[in-house]
Amino acid sequence: MFSPVLAASSLLFIIVIVGDYLRRSLSSPLNSIPGPWYSRFTSLVLKYNEFTTNRTRYIHQLHLEYGPAVRIAPNELAFASAGAVKEIYCSGGSGYDKTEFYDLFKVYGRRTMFTTLNKDDHARRKRILADRYANTNIVRKPSLDGIADRAASFVKRCIESADQSLDLYVCLHSYAFDCVTHHLFHPYGTDSLQSKYDEDIMRELTFDDSLQNRLVQYYSPTLHLVFGKLLYLFAKPRETPLADDFVLDTSAKTDTTSFTLLNRLNGVGSGPPQPQLDHLDIAAECLDHMAAGIDTTGDGLCFLLWELSQPSSFSFQRRLREELLANPGASFDKLPYLDAVVMEGLRCFPPIPMSLPRHVPRGGRNIDGYVVPEGAVVSCQAYSVQRLDRSVFPDPDTFNPERWLRQEGDAERKRLFFAFANGGRGCVGKHLALAEMKMLLQAVYSRFTTIPDETRMAGSSMEMSDQLISSRPLGQKCLLRFNPIGAADRPV
Ligand code: HEM
Repeated sequence: MFSPVLAASSLLFIIVIVGDYLRRSLSSPLNSIPGPWYSRFTSLVLKYNEFTTNRTRYIHQLHLEYGPAVRIAPNELAFASAGAVKEIYCSGGSGYDKTEFYDLFKVYGRRTMFTTLNKDDHARRKRILADRYANTNIVRKPSLDGIADRAASFVKRCIESADQSLDLYVCLHSYAFDCVTHHLFHPYGTDSLQSKYDEDIMRELTFDDSLQNRLVQYYSPTLHLVFGKLLYLFAKPRETPLADDFVLDTSAKTDTTSFTLLNRLNGVGSGPPQPQLDHLDIAAECLDHMAAGIDTTGDGLCFLLWELSQPSSFSFQRRLREELLANPGASFDKLPYLDAVVMEGLRCFPPIPMSLPRHVPRGGRNIDGYVVPEGAVVSCQAYSVQRLDRSVFPDPDTFNPERWLRQEGDAERKRLFFAFANGGRGCVGKHLALAEMKMLLQAVYSRFTTIPDETRMAGSSMEMSDQLISSRPLGQKCLLRFNPIGAADRPV
């Protein structure tokens, strides 16, 4: 039965709640930061863009409209300047603490170095394993020999593709998988460029489609718990049984080579005393690094080779070939044009495009001239940091490796290079990734010219599909033709 008293008190209740919400929104200390009006009241637009794999482009669009500091949700800000990168990711060594977003990436229920949230836990874990990723360890012969073998297997696949085209998306992810497992587990690394079973493990990780499911889990754990089964029909959870088994088995080995991560996690070799890690901790850390090393390097190389194969980039491909043919046998890290090509590839197509969220520490901070209260979520995304400032990156959407060869502006460009993030929580696998990328390009462009096989690909296939922690091509297919270099292409 209708009760006027009940109706009036319900209306009053709603007015009080909405009024309080509006009062808080309108008096928020974040209101001085530019951004669209709705960001003051709701994060729904941001979330919609996340679910539709468009977060990075959406935020970039806001930066273009509002500048290097922009409010993207009631309690969330995005920045795109060198000063903000330094403050958020480097102050005090490793910057601000990570947000609970990283809980989504726990492995076997354990926290790894990547998923630790606070400084101290992170520093403890990093002390154990960082030496295995130091450049001095990466450039040791047994480590580089493994990468060179994988690059040779890749070249074999190019030769076998003869008059047809090769699907680079699959082959480059296999290459990255084989290289990273070599570094983690040698002699138990994979050979997915030649073994079907190993390729299936790679496919399971790379073709994973669990972004939406994981976002529901993050934003609404209760909904995820209650409607998990129903949700499965629309958004698959992450399921990687082959990869899980491979890592659980392999990480139990105790006789891996001295340069490997597993050797270090097992407590072998030099380094400070370490807390005891149990088998599940070790397996989780290894699986995390394995996953971190596949899509990043694989996608980065895939976009780069595709770009180098476009008619607009033929002159860059030719100069790269000239440098490689003029310096046969040169070490991959002594070739300036090759370096410029890789830097420009990572600038234009950052493999982790998303903004990396951090909590503003107690007491609040000043970022880019704005006073930001404690607890606010702040972040920078490589996609914008590496293209917003046109005085440092003129014509920012154009692929042009030669910008990296100019003396003028060199320090500014490097300060704004954010593909591997920055500070103590930046990418620990950076030297490994760069060695893999450069050695592959060296092996390929010393032997072949490449052109796209667009006849067998949809036009949108190479558009960025923003999976937040990876930026794969939408079609997950990239067909190129590899033509052996003839006498006419060799320098006289
Ligand atoms: C081109 C290739 C790569 C790119 C662009 C890249 C990029 C990044 C970025 C941006 C971060 C910071 C993520 C964050 O703060 O949320 C990161 C962290 C990390 N990366 Fe990479 N990565 C690459 C390759 C690799 C490889 C090959 C490995 C390992 C074998 C690796 C292992 C890691 C790990 C373990 C972390 C966590 C570091 C920490 O929290 O201290 N990455 N990477």
